[in-house]
Amino acid sequence: TVTRLADYRPPLYRLPSVSLTFWLDRQKTTVEARIRLERDEAVYRPGESLLLHGGKLALESLTLEGEPLMEGRDYRLVPDGLELLNPPVAGELVSRVSIDPSANLELEGLYASGDMLCTQCEAEGFRKITYWLDRPDLLSVYTVKLIASAADYPVLLANGNCIEHGTMPGGQHFAVWHDPFPKPAYLFAVVAGQLVKTADRFTTRSGRTVDLEIWTRAADAAKTGHAMMSLKHSMAWDEQVFGLEYDLDIYMIVAVGDFNMGAMENKGLNVFNTKYVLADPQTATDLDYQGIEAVIAHEYFHNWTGNRVTCRDWFQLSLKEGLTVFRDQQFSADMNSAAVQRIGNVRGLRAVQFPEDAGPTAHPVRPDSYVEINNFYTATVYNKGAEVVRMYHTLLGADGFRRGMDLYFQRHDGQAVTCDDFRAAMADANGVDLSQFGRWYSQAGTPVVRVTDQYDTETKTYTLTMTQSCPPTPGQPVKEPFLIPIAMGLLSADGQTLPTQLTGEATAQAGTRVLRLSDVRQSFTFVNVAEAPIPSLLRGFSAPVKLERAWTDAELATLAAHDSDAFARWEAGQTVLTRVLLADADPASIGPARTDLPETVANLVAATLAPFTGETVGAGADPAFAALCLALPGEAYLAELVPVVYPDRLHAARNALRTAIGRRYADDLLKIIARFTDTGPFQPTAEAAGRRALRNTALDLLVAGGNSAAIALAADQAKAAGNMTDRLAALTALVDTDHPERSAILEAFQADFAEDALVLDKWFTVQALSRRADTLAQVTALLGHPAYDAKNPNKVRALVGSFTTGNRAQFHALDGSGYGFLADQVIATDGFNGKLAARLVAPLAPWKKMDPARQGLMRAELDRIRKTPGLSKDVTEIVEKALAA
Ligand code: ARG
Ligand code: ZN
Repeated sequence: TVTRLADYRPPLYRLPSVSLTFWLDRQKTTVEARIRLERDEAVYRPGESLLLHGGKLALESLTLEGEPLMEGRDYRLVPDGLELLNPPVAGELVSRVSIDPSANLELEGLYASGDMLCTQCEAEGFRKITYWLDRPDLLSVYTVKLIASAADYPVLLANGNCIEHGTMPGGQHFAVWHDPFPKPAYLFAVVAGQLVKTADRFTTRSGRTVDLEIWTRAADAAKTGHAMMSLKHSMAWDEQVFGLEYDLDIYMIVAVGDFNMGAMENKGLNVFNTKYVLADPQTATDLDYQGIEAVIAHEYFHNWTGNRVTCRDWFQLSLKEGLTVFRDQQFSADMNSAAVQRIGNVRGLRAVQFPEDAGPTAHPVRPDSYVEINNFYTATVYNKGAEVVRMYHTLLGADGFRRGMDLYFQRHDGQAVTCDDFRAAMADANGVDLSQFGRWYSQAGTPVVRVTDQYDTETKTYTLTMTQSCPPTPGQPVKEPFLIPIAMGLLSADGQTLPTQLTGEATAQAGTRVLRLSDVRQSFTFVNVAEAPIPSLLRGFSAPVKLERAWTDAELATLAAHDSDAFARWEAGQTVLTRVLLADADPASIGPARTDLPETVANLVAATLAPFTGETVGAGADPAFAALCLALPGEAYLAELVPVVYPDRLHAARNALRTAIGRRYADDLLKIIARFTDTGPFQPTAEAAGRRALRNTALDLLVAGGNSAAIALAADQAKAAGNMTDRLAALTALVDTDHPERSAILEAFQADFAEDALVLDKWFTVQALSRRADTLAQVTALLGHPAYDAKNPNKVRALVGSFTTGNRAQFHALDGSGYGFLADQVIATDGFNGKLAARLVAPLAPWKKMDPARQGLMRAELDRIRKTPGLSKDVTEIVEKALAA
């Protein structure tokens, strides 16, 4: 059944408060819910029954005002829950249900992870714990009593403050938690287990002391330092930048090894995937450290953008997710290098969101219908949603954006609201009309902006003409124009900044300015332009669009060398690389793989390397930025730029270019390795990470180029590097080769980390990403490895997900073996975890973009999945959309 935005109705009842009692047990947990019911006469229609959501609950008793209710007369059990047939105007409803956490492999509701018990309720997991009006616009005050064996579950946690605890007969104990903030059920959490805490404190700017606690297994307690530091930074940052202070006296984070997503912002009690909490230099990479900082911040920021102000319905998911991703991106930019962060965000968007927006599951940032809401926790809702929020920031400026945020909280604190409410706050706080901007929420697809320009030597005027269009997406054949902010500047031929002055303006402006493209076709004329300029457009990636202009090679070289905007410099270089790769991969240009380097690429690489190969490092040269400039555009993004995708050709072109760069610049790359070999202790700072990134990029290019010294170095580094960043980078380079010690090194790595689940994930991933032709056979064999666990989402993503999303050439092998492998894994996983299975299936969805041979193979596997008996609605929704394309 389909849920539609247009059908929204407020809840028939308010449930202002609830008392829950849990008798916790791995196999049989009993839950009693005492619910205060109050009918909303403004919504309720006479004769209506009240559906309380529920799933997989065994009802043991049900009373209203102390009177037992009778099935058939007073209530009815239906597939979605329990229907109260003659619901009262008001009253106390008490239900008792039992559930089996040990059998809950979908990891939604109350489930077991190792020997602990924990919950995941977003989006609709609370209904697997008790009967409830499980919808985000129903806010309630929760009191929770947890009762369990003191030996098995010495720690008992829930939202809010612990108001009472004690022992009970028979080795049981209990704890009572009260959360004073009314909240939707999706923010509910309980955790019980043998956990230890790392504790710290934060003093808010108004002088309140907040206890910070990170709960882990005892063996992991030593790895929480970075998470704790990130949390304190986040708390301080939100006060400084948005004036937002934490509101409870305690903030808890629990690390859980079995988790469907990254983390969850439950009020006062975040539950995290261990991957986003635990780190030390021996086991975590720089990327892991950055991921922890970002996710800790993200969940913390949700306390205001998500919890204090929540979503009216799940169509508004981006209200909290897009905004919170934007906030965590701004935070990471402030903590690290802003340019490097921005480039990373854009690369991610292009690799994942652009394909989604161009494929059969494309949907607007605010979707208007869904079968299973879990399928909408997507790059579009999260990352394009963050770009939409960023555009307000770009259009209104940092101060204007802050005014909008202040008004948003002033109006809506404690409410469940919509994306339109957020847009209205931004508009009203700044006295601007943002009605056209609303199309970013309602229309799917990546807009294309085409730019032409003309310089008039006589009048010294320069005219930029932009046209916008947006391809059709499912259910949306025709699009209305968007309001697109184009941040831009003009450069002279020798790279100097030219002032910009639009016709009608009294004075010229220096630096970046923002043009507002709102029509299908629009021209902007600049006056007093001394020479034919080079336009620098979409600085900072000011809008989530594809921008096209026929740049000359010389213009791109000038932009790459001189643009004042770091993103635009990087982008110009990427355009140079993209041109070469697309030409090389063009099916019309049949020929042997390239061995030489085109001059445009050689110049770019030489310019990137030069500051790092002299006597001293050039002033202002940033190794992290250089590493990004040397990273070739990814295959998923390249696939977005061609009409028909031949994944093997894109892969071969990219490999050949890597190899050619590695050969031609071997001496310089070896110098970089020598220069950036760190000898001191590992520091997870942005600066040190940047040096490692450049050094390991050099190593990767050299190994690709077959450099024997580098291959030997990679082998040593994979065996003995003192930190995981260097060790994993070396192992990643080495697994592509036929190095005689390859399997011995892989085995030793596994043995060194046999007890560390997160490092074993990396070990699976590294093998799944190998460029060697036998990779699928290896991956299939690894499914049977004792350290592999098909029930653990991190393992499945590490092995199966890495192969199908990160090893495109082999996944798309022309014999269809990769497709068959994925379909098998989807079907097997769907047997117990439809949420995880629905995420796995994505790489099969864009079959229509592939060459004819692959289209049929992919379709056949989608069809096979579709015909599997008992398929979850999660997978069904995705597969049906894919097949309908
Ligand atoms: N709200 C969480 C976050 O982004 C994600 C939870 C998603 N869970 C799910 N089952 N879809 O921080
Ligand atoms: Zn979130």
